[in-house]
Amino acid sequence: MNSHPYADQYPVLRGLPSEGRDRGAILAELREMATQEDSFWQTGKASGSFYCGDMAHYAFMSEAFGLYGHMNALQRDVCPSATRFEGEIIAMGLDLFNAGTIANGDPVGMITSGGSASILHAVLSYREHARATRGITSPNFVKPETGHPAFDKACHLLGIELRIAPIVPATAQVDLEAVAGLIDEQTIAILGSASNYGYGTIDDIAALGQLALSRGVGLHVDGCLGGFILPFGEKLGFPIPKFDFRVPGVTTISADTHKYGYALKGTSVLLYRDSGLRKYQYFNFTDWPGGIYFSPGLSGSRSGGIVAATWAAMVSLGERGYLEVAKGIFEMAATIRHGIDAIPELEVIGQPTFLVAFRSPDLNIYHVNDHLIAKGWRLNALQLPAALHFCVTRPNTAPGVADAFLADLRDAVDYAKHPARSEPRSGALYGLGGTPEGNEILNTLFTAALDAMYEVAPTEARA
Ligand SMILES: Cc1ncc(COP(=O)(O)O)c(C=O)c1O
Repeated sequence: MNSHPYADQYPVLRGLPSEGRDRGAILAELREMATQEDSFWQTGKASGSFYCGDMAHYAFMSEAFGLYGHMNALQRDVCPSATRFEGEIIAMGLDLFNAGTIANGDPVGMITSGGSASILHAVLSYREHARATRGITSPNFVKPETGHPAFDKACHLLGIELRIAPIVPATAQVDLEAVAGLIDEQTIAILGSASNYGYGTIDDIAALGQLALSRGVGLHVDGCLGGFILPFGEKLGFPIPKFDFRVPGVTTISADTHKYGYALKGTSVLLYRDSGLRKYQYFNFTDWPGGIYFSPGLSGSRSGGIVAATWAAMVSLGERGYLEVAKGIFEMAATIRHGIDAIPELEVIGQPTFLVAFRSPDLNIYHVNDHLIAKGWRLNALQLPAALHFCVTRPNTAPGVADAFLADLRDAVDYAKHPARSEPRSGALYGLGGTPEGNEILNTLFTAALDAMYEVAPTEARA
């Protein structure tokens, strides 16, 4: 791994420069790197990550950010605008997820810094609530195996036992009987995804809701990825099952404004069916010499810019804007889904909506990926079992992208029948990962990779 990118283009800093540099020169350098990095996803050949891709929208949000970037959203006496922005973002989120249908409850929300943060705060609330109201001291949380690792991380950080339910291979939805079997008197909550990252499938939220109600546990719906696109798909008439507060038993929903909400990176919403649960994520400390301290969760000071930009993004698009973008995305996903269905060597996984995952019973799918990479595509490689997915975003909806993808995919399948090398290049260290032992070795390697990412400079430059 190149631990210090751009070292060959710009001088490497190993300390604060003694003299400040010219702002114009700094901006030119930043622009040069950003242009270089944008040029890849602007081809429309990247799956996921770049959800919006509209440079005018980015510039507009940056301007909104610039007006509030220096403000501290924690200090509402001098930054009351943050209360307005956050309150309205939450209201828009609650409306989108039909909180208006909640009969007994006081629906509320919270803005966090991203999907993992929303998930962490939800799990924290469930733990604290269960401790206070049910006396639970050895909490456990049940997730489908397709549930995002943010739940594993949250349970790890919060000292909660994580129980993992398998999926039903034919539908790629969680096995409901397995979930039911894993719930016991120490279970704080269960998870359903709408949709999960790997396959893009939506768990049977209605059934999970019934299960949660009958067993007296919470149900978190992870809409971090799908939350800001599935509701528009439903409005457009695509077959999207209900997964929001209309479903009895759903107690919290996470949905990322920084994904299909088309905001800048750094915000997500966490919505609660009832305020009685939200208060358990708060942290207050009244006995500090520095003053009476209270904060809604893990973060302390936060930029007002990111909430202003998120608010501006949502208000500028409006329902009509979101519907327009969603239409292009769902149509592109349907086109590639049908194209993949027509390739006998490939098999689409589950019922896709905006993300299409596929595998091959006979070919090594990572050989397919090798060819796609050579043609400039960046799909996401899955494992256990090996598969690929294309998470369709707005840049992928440009004319010609779907056809070009399917043509290259057909060639890639031909390539995989007679690959140039026996071991594929792609597939995240294929041959090492994919088994419990191999993945254990990968854990060690990733620690080294993370260390390398935070290296101050390439080792040779330090000598
Ligand atoms: C389904 C799902 N949940 C949670 C997350 C975590 O979100 P973040 O990376 O913003 O922390 C992701 C990210 O891709 C996701 O796809």
